[in-house]
Amino acid sequence: MAEFEDKVLHELDGIREYDNPMPAWLMAIFWGSLIFSAAYLGFYALSFGEGSMEAEYRAGTQRAVASVDAYFDANPLVPPSPADLLAGAKDPAVLEMGASRFTRSCASCHGEKAQGLIGPNLTDDHWIHGGTVERVFQSVAKGWPAKGMPPWGRAVKPEELSALVSFVRSVQGSNPPNARAPEGDRVVPEPIPGH
Ligand code: HEC
Repeated sequence: MAEFEDKVLHELDGIREYDNPMPAWLMAIFWGSLIFSAAYLGFYALSFGEGSMEAEYRAGTQRAVASVDAYFDANPLVPPSPADLLAGAKDPAVLEMGASRFTRSCASCHGEKAQGLIGPNLTDDHWIHGGTVERVFQSVAKGWPAKGMPPWGRAVKPEELSALVSFVRSVQGSNPPNARAPEGDRVVPEPIPGH
């Protein structure tokens, strides 16, 4: 212990307290991390300043909304002809696109097999808002927001919107299990050409 002799601060009953300060490099890390954590907290958790996470998030959201708006402004929704919508109901590529979009965007309310869940059964021949492909297109594009059916005209691409309607026409009369009871008026399904 002789080498510490000069650094003894106190001695009491033979117990010695030495003065051994933390080495400078350790103090630097200690203070450095304190200062860093204060800055980090302000910047990330409390979101002060330009380029903070929150500002970045807002700018990113704004850019995304603007690009979606620009897309739909450049591709205005032109209702396709009923003949095209009906022809799509037997085109495998169109039906595949429609079915996959249906699973992602519609099945949560209308059921995996369009049998109806929160929303009406789309496979029977009864319709609240009309069952021609033209009317179904309007229902899907504009929705019935007051009744819980969202509008999809500016949420999915025009070709996907048409594909959805063709898909809905294709599942007419498919009689899925656990179907929701018919709602609305009976509409005779339009024939799919060449079917
Ligand atoms: C958040 C739930 C919800 C989602 C998601 C949803 N719908 Fe609907 N949909 C409804 C409800 C509820 C109605 C019934 C509206 C009414 O009673 O007027 C409806 C009505 C409809 C109708 C009119 C039915 C009729 O009898 O006239 C069609 C067609 C339709 N939805 C298609 C779709 C398609 C296609 C999608 C996916 C792109 C979709 N819906 C997604 C809830 C939803």
